Amino acid sequence: MKLTALLAGLVAACPLIAQNPMLLPAAIEGPEAVLTLAPGEHDFGSGIVAASLGANGPILGPTLIVEQGDAVSWSVVNGLTESTTMHWHGMHVSPANDGGPHSIIDPGETWNPQFTVLDEAGTYWYHPHLHMMTDMHVSKGIAGQIWVRDAEELALPLPRTYGEDEFPIVLQTKAFNAAGDIIAHSNSDTLLCVNATYDAHLSVPASVVRLHLLNGSSQRVFYVGRSGDAPFHLMATDGGLLTEAVELTRLRLAPGERAEVLVDCSDLAGESFAFMSYASELPNAVYGASQPGMGAGQTLTGYNPNPMNGGDFELFSVSVDAPTPAAAVFEIPTTLDPSNENPFAFSDASLQRNLFMNPLSMGPNALNGGFIINGAPFDMEVINYTIPLDNIEVWNITNSSPIGHPFHIHDVQFYILERNGVAPPVEERGRKDVVFIPAMQSAKFICQFSDFADPEIPYMYHCHMLVHEDQGMMGQFLVVDPAANDVANAQAPQGWTVYPNPATDMLRFADLPEYTTVEIRDLSGRLVARERLAAEQAVGVQSLAPGVYLAAAFDVHGVNLGTVRWTKSR
Ligand code: C2O
Ligand code: CU
Ligand code: CU
Repeated sequence: MKLTALLAGLVAACPLIAQNPMLLPAAIEGPEAVLTLAPGEHDFGSGIVAASLGANGPILGPTLIVEQGDAVSWSVVNGLTESTTMHWHGMHVSPANDGGPHSIIDPGETWNPQFTVLDEAGTYWYHPHLHMMTDMHVSKGIAGQIWVRDAEELALPLPRTYGEDEFPIVLQTKAFNAAGDIIAHSNSDTLLCVNATYDAHLSVPASVVRLHLLNGSSQRVFYVGRSGDAPFHLMATDGGLLTEAVELTRLRLAPGERAEVLVDCSDLAGESFAFMSYASELPNAVYGASQPGMGAGQTLTGYNPNPMNGGDFELFSVSVDAPTPAAAVFEIPTTLDPSNENPFAFSDASLQRNLFMNPLSMGPNALNGGFIINGAPFDMEVINYTIPLDNIEVWNITNSSPIGHPFHIHDVQFYILERNGVAPPVEERGRKDVVFIPAMQSAKFICQFSDFADPEIPYMYHCHMLVHEDQGMMGQFLVVDPAANDVANAQAPQGWTVYPNPATDMLRFADLPEYTTVEIRDLSGRLVARERLAAEQAVGVQSLAPGVYLAAAFDVHGVNLGTVRWTKSR
């Protein structure tokens, strides 16, 4: 192996031989999982042992592996001493199941979202999302990957032996105070860890190896490549397989982004190499480059010194010396999932929304003053957009600030149509939920807001630099189903009914499919109850004032099954 060439490229202080075996999170396969959040203590392997937070352990959380179509039931037990939330980043779920800042889990409480997995095969992830506390809870350690399999993925010859030829790889940098505690909202992130392991080493078999890369850092952008510029293949972006594998030597990975890559190690038995971040090649104004500002010498207060900024460093080392699993794969497939091609043309969109990212204070202090979208910081009480169910929209995001921001939106996977007016590179043409927008640049994406409407609980969009998100670089939108709210024109129930009518204590439902959600409204359209029907298909109505009400039903996909008029009696 070319150890000398590798070492010559290292600027940051990296040891000669990576020493710490990379931590492998447990895997929970199947639709049911319990995530118990608790404080702990974690030894990063760098001499630093710090107070941490984790799910089912002191740091990070298990990898949840599910299949499209699974009826998932995930329980989040909050064993912390403070409130939090749990968001399934990238997954297409209803607002009530999304785990955004409105779905608070208090200490001692359990939150149990249940939904059908509608997503394409891909790498999703979970992390807390409490407003202003996201960075603290994630940096202290709560994060994990979610892998979705689907029929197209399962039909492909791909590595899928957990921890042998298929690995979750969580890339993060962390900042500490003088007392050795992990801190949030800091530009002094100097500890690089992979799966919470400093100076991490991964032992792999001499076959094709599949890495699920996640940038779970608060701020830092990585420019991923192999030592010696050896190639690797990108097979999936945030929310799905590419139509074809793309051979690359570099991949920019911003906070929140995921990439599944295949590395052909079949001919490398006994050899070693490294995954690097070639941060010296990042252009200015990307967090991780030598300078954040646009012009030469135009640095921002608080950004430097940080030895990680602008220098190349090793992410983790790999040695090809592990036993080959029975189901090993020795060739990288070329065709992946052709059905994941962008189905939308610009002209399909019924509108274009323009969003501008700005610093609160322009100038050298921009990095420390916070950033906003469209002139206003996030407000829990303000709905920024109301989107009709099934709308196809183009979002045009312009970054008018001196640092790049990864823009993330909940609910949907989108396709990037343009960067600065031109089509994106081939590695960015797949399904995405984060788009990194360098300083003074713009990007347009297209997506459809299908399946889930909720007149009350919003979805979020925000910068995935967690500092910026916490400081208010976030907005929220409702997806509304005009048909469901239109009391006068409510559609007739499709083969189901309610009884007794009039009802006093319990309103019972007959002939609705499993997991139906029912909404009860008064005649002004005001929502008075929403419930997912369990085995007992009934909703308690004893507390409602006597009068006439409507009951609407929605299947697991949010499809409206019609409305029944019923009377509440004393
Ligand atoms: Cu990964 Cu709104 O978040
Ligand atoms: Cu998200
Ligand atoms: Cu940002």
